Amino acid sequence: MDQSKKGPRRTGATRRIYMSLREQIESGVYGTGDKLPSSRSLAEEHGVSRTTVTAAFDQLISEGYVEVRQGAKPIVATTASPSRLHPSASTANGARRLSNYAMRAMRLPSHSTAGRKPLKFDFRYGDIAAADFPKQVWKHALTSAFMIHRDRLGYDNPAGSPILRQALQGYLWRARGIRCNPSQIVIVNGSQQALDLCARTLVNPGDSVVIEEPCYAMARNVMLAVGASPVPVACDHDGMDTAGLPDLGQVALAYVTPSHQFPLGGVLSVGRRHRLIEWAKAGNIYVIEDDYDGEYRYDVSPIPPLYLSGQDQVIYVGTVSKTLSPTLRLGYMVLPAPLIDPFIHCKQLADRHSSTYEQEALASLIEAGAYERHVRKMRRSSAARRSIFLRTMTDAFEKEIEIVGTSAGLHVVVWFNRLRAEDEERIAGLAGSNDIGIYPISRLFGTPTDPRAGFIFGYASMDVKSIAEGVSRLAGIIRPLVG
Ligand SMILES: Cc1ncc(COP(=O)(O)O)c(C=O)c1O
Repeated sequence: MDQSKKGPRRTGATRRIYMSLREQIESGVYGTGDKLPSSRSLAEEHGVSRTTVTAAFDQLISEGYVEVRQGAKPIVATTASPSRLHPSASTANGARRLSNYAMRAMRLPSHSTAGRKPLKFDFRYGDIAAADFPKQVWKHALTSAFMIHRDRLGYDNPAGSPILRQALQGYLWRARGIRCNPSQIVIVNGSQQALDLCARTLVNPGDSVVIEEPCYAMARNVMLAVGASPVPVACDHDGMDTAGLPDLGQVALAYVTPSHQFPLGGVLSVGRRHRLIEWAKAGNIYVIEDDYDGEYRYDVSPIPPLYLSGQDQVIYVGTVSKTLSPTLRLGYMVLPAPLIDPFIHCKQLADRHSSTYEQEALASLIEAGAYERHVRKMRRSSAARRSIFLRTMTDAFEKEIEIVGTSAGLHVVVWFNRLRAEDEERIAGLAGSNDIGIYPISRLFGTPTDPRAGFIFGYASMDVKSIAEGVSRLAGIIRPLVG
């Protein structure tokens, strides 16, 4: 049988990656000379080691689809144009007719974990423990929401349920000191939809968007997909270093995580807050404040949102993904007045509105005080998880590591002083083959600057026993590498 039709005889993952790249080249998603994703980002996307990805590339190279030059990213070979390989491919499957948006989106690594083999000790950031979800309370609230609407099922307000917006107004005042009018609040399907709406509403292809370096990949990717050029501004323990803000010129928008920089954990200092707002005012630019885990603070008092430093400039974004569940897809935005109508129009075009039952269930939890009680409970259980993680890591690695971003949130970054950044993927692969999920920090940098290997550890989805056991097993793998 012709090997080019059969693909590699390696592992299932190698074959999957090989097939996916080959299909994208054949259908023209990647054209001749286009850069392909690096083996590092493909390893992340598919949850496999770099060796697995390299095997897929080797096969594509041997079949003439891909070329690699020393030290550069792999590119689509000149011999691999769709019309040469499959004369009918470009018209038969319609892929050539994809929009520029879709083509750009297809080139970005997917962050879906669907279908991935679960790991026994997974320090994946973003998941939270199912055991913490208030099942009975939520079930009751959902049933009540259904009963309210049982006589009429129709489309609702694109801005969101008035009951929830009213309830959130009170919650935001009590929890975050934000005073706003319910008319400024738009309910969205998680923060991700808020970021997507910001990109659609405020950014044109070719515009620059200021982002943090390192940055939340899903924020950077939303901007790339609309054709914007991200302008990364370096972050340290005080958050984004505003001395590095670019000249205003083509800048359309800025994205920050001021209360707990993702992923490094810094808190944007007061001076930098003022500088950022002044800069944004001078250019008439909006700043997205992604307050994704503002509920979780441990040894420090709550950090006021950036919103309080510049209400006319800041688009405040919150979510229940870290307090209730990311599966609910419920988030909210607080908008400056001129943006309310444009955002409601765009939200309606995107999906009419977010699910009414879930919105009203959340509203009733907030109104009854059950949401804030739950948040307090979550804060206590996260504090217990965090403390066992920090203690067991420090005991296991002592002076070999530096842990940053510990005062807030549901994750930390651990730098390994004697491991090299270029070995992160190999180490993550090794851990993965021992049923432990750890996630290289370099994936979140445009250009990594720290020569040490670093990993982002989420601890919110594991119980304390598994955290301790996971750390001890990880130590068994990493200790021999540091000598
Ligand atoms: C920086 C950041 N923003 C937002 C979110 C939450 O996203 P969503 O509300 O879409 O679930 C996350 C989740 O991991 C995050 O890390």
